[in-house]
Amino acid sequence: MEIKVCIGSSCHLKGSHRVVEGLQKLIEENGLSDKLDFKGAFCMGLCQPGVSVKIDNEVFSVKPEELEEFFEKNIKAKI
Ligand code: FES
Repeated sequence: MEIKVCIGSSCHLKGSHRVVEGLQKLIEENGLSDKLDFKGAFCMGLCQPGVSVKIDNEVFSVKPEELEEFFEKNIKAKI
């Protein structure tokens, strides 16, 4: 599974660094580092209400405060 977090300016303002740090921590805590390809990406052209996170070919809009729920539902459950 490939995960890309947008670090473009609009997503940066919405907390992309918190999403990156939070995801790194959750991935480590759950021992998933070797199952995921985790990267940063530039603007995906889909500046949304939250931070754009692309999982394989699907783009999600993630708010830093909802990260844990997002991780459980869209990453952990699908591995
Ligand atoms: S800045 Fe993140 S999608 Fe545009």
